[in-house]
Amino acid sequence: MKTKAMVTVGILTCRAPDEQGRPFGPPTGFFEECCEAAAALDLRAVVFDATDVDAAQGTVSPATVEEGRWVECGPELWPAVIYDRAPVIDPAGARAADRTRNLFDRSGIPFVNPGSFVRLAVDKLEMHRRLADAGLALPHTGNLDAYALRAFLARYDHVYVKPRVGSLGTGVMEIVRTAGGRQVIRTLDATYETRGAGPAMDRIMALTAEARAEPMGCLVQQGISAEPAGERRFPRFDLRLLMQKNGQARWDLTGLAARVGQTSGPTTNLSNGARSEEAEPVLDALYGRLRRKEILRRAEEASFAACRLLDTELGPIGEVGLDIVPDLAGLPWIIEINARPGRNVFRRIARSADVPAPSRQRYGAIRRRSVARPFEYAKALAEIGISA
Ligand SMILES: Nc1ncnc2c1ncn2[C@@H]1O[C@H](COP(=O)(O)OP(=O)(O)OP(=O)(O)O)[C@@H](O)[C@H]1O
Ligand SMILES: [Mg+2]
Repeated sequence: MKTKAMVTVGILTCRAPDEQGRPFGPPTGFFEECCEAAAALDLRAVVFDATDVDAAQGTVSPATVEEGRWVECGPELWPAVIYDRAPVIDPAGARAADRTRNLFDRSGIPFVNPGSFVRLAVDKLEMHRRLADAGLALPHTGNLDAYALRAFLARYDHVYVKPRVGSLGTGVMEIVRTAGGRQVIRTLDATYETRGAGPAMDRIMALTAEARAEPMGCLVQQGISAEPAGERRFPRFDLRLLMQKNGQARWDLTGLAARVGQTSGPTTNLSNGARSEEAEPVLDALYGRLRRKEILRRAEEASFAACRLLDTELGPIGEVGLDIVPDLAGLPWIIEINARPGRNVFRRIARSADVPAPSRQRYGAIRRRSVARPFEYAKALAEIGISA
């Protein structure tokens, strides 16, 4: 049979039994695209969670898309390569997913992104420590306690506080010192003003009390901004760069977009209402066309350097999403490294009514490439495995 000779790539995730027609919950549509992209590369993608794996038998009972419909398969032998999209911190699924990660890892099955990277990226402070001292532009970052907070507020006019383990901008807080010596503290829900560092510290420590009581606590970080943070003329934004290895197992910048805040809130996560836009006009408005080109070149260079460093530190990695903010001088700083990067930034532009048709098409193609890339790379990994 034709499928038997095909290399199978297994997508490790979490099943969502209550979601009618969506066996894996919200990412089901993405996994459908994955199955189609794999098929176009003569690969077979299957999707499963930890409970589908039989460790004793060395088999898995996954689902896949055939002729546009989800079908259950197996039991069958374990996949040749794993694409890890399973939860890492969610208490319900993370522990079981971790056991499965370890099982495949011990069996020598290659991963698009190894568990060591996926786990490390969960802790923003630990990730920062691993990349520090390698010449990358990373904002000064420390563990949040009263001592560190006092030092950061004294040293920087613009400071961020956030949970070490968090996503979607949850719990992120910005503190800006104004020319009049006041501190403006912005969370996703509210803005507070205090006069002087002492009252600001009391307020920040009170607002973070719950998050600091969590096992990993919070971090404090130098704020980066394209404009003086206290006198913005433009909405805040960051750049999302998606770096992926291609079919030759070489890094490539698949695409980039700007995420532009639509409120005065401290974050630019799409989940908090930010818009996804082409980066060029956003940067042109702030820096002019010439400097825009330089900023994008440097952001790309920084992303390549970060990916090479991660490869050296953690072993081969297949894809990385980087959140980058350029400063006043146009120097791009890496704010965050994402080990399970989303692709919504590209789809949003591809589907935006405000974007000219050629750009929509361009971002549609970037989105499709971003889905296909892990499978191109998986194919290379499988071939390396076979030749070894
Ligand atoms: N040091 C900083 N300087 C400027 N802006 C920042 C800084 N830290 C965070 N931000 C803003 O807040 C947003 C969210 O922060 P961050 O990316 O660190 O966490 P997250 O988005 O919650 O995590 P994830 O991307 O894993 O969901 C960033 O996209 C950026 O807009
Ligand atoms: Mg982020």
